[in-house]
Amino acid sequence: MNYYKNKTILITGAFGGFGKHFINQLIESGANVVLSDVAAPPISQVVKKPHLEKQIIATITADLSTAEGCEYLYEACKKASPHLDIIIHNAGILFTGRFVDIPLKINEKIMRINLLSVMRLNSLFLPDLLQRQSGHLIYVSSVAGYVATPYGAAYSTSKFGMRGFAMAVHGEVKKQGIKTSIVYPFWSKTPIMKKQVFGNPEMSTMPNFFASEPEYVIRHALRSAARGKLHIRPGFFSKLMWHAVRLMPVIAKQRFMKQELIQD
Ligand SMILES: NC(=O)c1ccc[n+]([C@@H]2O[C@H](COP(=O)([O-])OP(=O)(O)OC[C@H]3O[C@@H](n4cnc5c(N)ncnc54)[C@H](OP(=O)(O)O)[C@@H]3O)[C@@H](O)[C@H]2O)c1
Repeated sequence: MNYYKNKTILITGAFGGFGKHFINQLIESGANVVLSDVAAPPISQVVKKPHLEKQIIATITADLSTAEGCEYLYEACKKASPHLDIIIHNAGILFTGRFVDIPLKINEKIMRINLLSVMRLNSLFLPDLLQRQSGHLIYVSSVAGYVATPYGAAYSTSKFGMRGFAMAVHGEVKKQGIKTSIVYPFWSKTPIMKKQVFGNPEMSTMPNFFASEPEYVIRHALRSAARGKLHIRPGFFSKLMWHAVRLMPVIAKQRFMKQELIQD
């Protein structure tokens, strides 16, 4: 993946399941990375090839659920590196349960981390990218960003919101040399799957059979982003669901018609 060679890349949520694969695959591709997360483990536990550790420019712990945390990350980034080439908006949280069973403050936290922090970081970093007329924004959304997902209402809302926001900003910046890629993973084997469940939702766990390997998801995402793809659907289920929601109006109409016939 030559595209990433010598590029300076900020990864949020860098020490999570996907984040660790972003780090290793990007430094193996010759990128220099700035890592950010709410807490940071020793780097030796994360980097698979120790001789590549020198490509980690900085590790910045910041809580992206607050405006202050986003501003702190921006200032610390500026000190660590004069400019960024790519920002990977990857940090995210998930809690499941019926909307009414999840405390409102938890639902609001989902919105602040998964969506508002992305808007805040773009408003801080984007002017620099626009001034240099180059850059690439990579957003980690979800299949829940195009399939309204029961028992994950706030999560789904945040990921739909991220998709809308990313596409709208893309329309504003694409002619100024800034690329956009939006990644829509289906379930993948990362710690987010052990999310806290509220109440007693009917579908709280996804069989392991459906879950993809995070290493594959991130390789697919990075390869597709390097080719300049806007919408990236890694894996069979992500693609299947993308087409299924487009067929949905047809299916819904047929079901409605059948009901009418039964009533007759
Ligand atoms: N895995 C999947 O099935 C899947 C599917 C579709 C989309 N995604 C998306 O992929 C992205 C990465 O998720 P993942 O699967 O790698 O889950 P993960 O392992 O839980 O990683 C998420 C990372 O975000 C960090 N984070 C949490 N709160 C934060 C805060 N306030 N400020 C800054 N960072 C914070 C987490 O830190 P802590 O661990 O310390 O909380 C963690 O390192 C998320 O946006 C998620 O929505 C995942």
